[in-house]
Amino acid sequence: MNGHSLGIPRPAAGAFAAIDFMAAMSAHRSVDPQRIATAGLVLEPLTAAHAEEMFEVLSDPAIYRYLDQPAPASIDALREIYVRRERRLSPEGDQIWLNWVIRVGDGTPAGYVQATIVSPDDAWIAYVLASKYWGCGYGFAAMSAMLEHLTVDYAVRRFLATAEIGNERSIRLLEHLGFRPATEDATPGRDLPTGERLFARYKPRNLQRLCQAPSALPAAPVLANQHQPLLLREWNDHPPNRRGVI
Ligand SMILES: CC(C)(COP(=O)(O)OP(=O)(O)OC[C@H]1O[C@@H](n2cnc3c(N)ncnc32)[C@H](O)[C@@H]1OP(=O)(O)O)[C@@H](O)C(=O)NCCC(=O)NCCS
Repeated sequence: MNGHSLGIPRPAAGAFAAIDFMAAMSAHRSVDPQRIATAGLVLEPLTAAHAEEMFEVLSDPAIYRYLDQPAPASIDALREIYVRRERRLSPEGDQIWLNWVIRVGDGTPAGYVQATIVSPDDAWIAYVLASKYWGCGYGFAAMSAMLEHLTVDYAVRRFLATAEIGNERSIRLLEHLGFRPATEDATPGRDLPTGERLFARYKPRNLQRLCQAPSALPAAPVLANQHQPLLLREWNDHPPNRRGVI
């Protein structure tokens, strides 16, 4: 569980050396993740202070069946990892690292969700829940809230995830969230580990520029969970799933 690499294929050597998007990020986005309250749970920005209670959550062996990393060796080892994650930036400064602890209704920590923003448009996402919380909808609720936050506050346009072929729970969760299988063309320069499948979910950006000028649009009420209409081109490539999630 080193760095911030859960579920993220390794970049080919030097592939991301040229990424210089921090100026754009700082102009338009906050690097501080928000505390997010959603149905039945709270997402709390992860800090080193979470190490002790998360050590217990992450000691559940069932979590690691399909992950290429072991459980944390000790509270201190986990704290060290969390100190790095709390910086919210990769050591090279070319990725934004965001993590939230998932707390269920009574405040108990149940797992975490993670986003690694690797370009102005793209974020890799990952999620982990202790097995006693599986099948309750917590994964779906936590991920929906994180994806919306990243879309609205960080302007992420495309979400990427990998899942082991046998990790059916994870694949079903991705599909319910609107992810679809993708080819490696979607991640140039990334090596997908053997046995992993790649998934992508697209969020169109600034669609109005290809429709009408914003001033010509009728005033519309601002909805809490507003999804913009899809461009025909994007609709054809990535139709919304049956729940209407883009
Ligand atoms: C992957 C993982 C988070 C999935 O957890 P989960 O508890 O199965 O997730 P949920 O309870 O939210 O989803 C369960 C089901 O309810 C569905 N669901 C729940 N609420 C929903 C809602 N409001 N709308 C639509 N679907 C919903 C889910 O889509 C899923 O459907 P299914 O019956 O087809 O399986 C969990 O298995 C885990 O932590 N595994 C170990 C770590 C891991 O492998 N992580 C993935 C690699 S990064």
